[in-house]
Amino acid sequence: MSGGYGTRLAPITSAVNKQLLPIYDKPMIYYPISTLMMAGIDEILIITSPLFLNLFKKLLGDGSKWNIKIEFAVQDEPKGLAEAFILGEKFIDNCPSVLILGDNIFHGTNLIDLLLKTSSDVEGATIFAYKVKNPESYGVINFKDEKIESIEEKPQIPKSNYAITGIYFYDSSAVSRVKQLKPSKRGELEITDLNNLYLVEGKLKYKLLGRGYCWFDAGSIESLNACSQYVQIIENRQGLKIGCPEEIAWRNKWINETNLLEIAKEQQ
Ligand code: DAU
Repeated sequence: MSGGYGTRLAPITSAVNKQLLPIYDKPMIYYPISTLMMAGIDEILIITSPLFLNLFKKLLGDGSKWNIKIEFAVQDEPKGLAEAFILGEKFIDNCPSVLILGDNIFHGTNLIDLLLKTSSDVEGATIFAYKVKNPESYGVINFKDEKIESIEEKPQIPKSNYAITGIYFYDSSAVSRVKQLKPSKRGELEITDLNNLYLVEGKLKYKLLGRGYCWFDAGSIESLNACSQYVQIIENRQGLKIGCPEEIAWRNKWINETNLLEIAKEQQ
């Protein structure tokens, strides 16, 4: 999901889509695309606003350079994250799907295993919780042992310190469930309302991203900057890339070494 107005980043986003801004050495959208590819997903629908559609197409093409399929859909106005399932109905084609937010960056040991395990379990819905200092800025999950007690969108008084991160795994019923939703007071089809539909039926699961993981929502000036610094520090220390779709395509054996070297040459 890469639409929205990015108002919290104005004036940077007055003429540019947030997800095209750099996070250190690559466009923000590369990170969520990489996360999906690490989950073994090779069919991706980019949803963005009409103004920026051509820029995303120029950047990503049809995905063939990474041997994946990338398609595009337009969201005329940011009417909520859950609208992705209405706009993507044909693309989803009655299959399970994953929604990732274009400004969400995930990194950590065993992330690939965790994602692969989650994408192979297609029953109900799965969300990821991450402990933060400012839960009121996010969807908040309150749980006890294995059981989810509540999920709330940006509550004034959060019941826990656990934010719901911007990656959601759904079974094939997500599209029909979204069709039951009514826009919230702020006029949006809320992702939290969709998750609550699964919760009331006992079909919502959560997984904890422990403190060894790093999760950023790069939607504010502070986090955009912090995330860039994080990527710079880790990449320079390790000599390895974070959020590098070509590397993941190569590791997944979707492209071969010759293809990888060709892409590297183009970027020199
Ligand atoms: O980052 C995690 C949080 O993301 C969750 O904890 C919240 O439950 C969830 O609602 C969401 O909150 P945000 O306030 O961060 O959402 P935001 O409006 O910034 O939208 C996230 C991304 O999705 C952003 O890159 C723009 C895009 N977007 C958003 C909306 C509402 C769209 O493409 N279309 C939309 O209609």
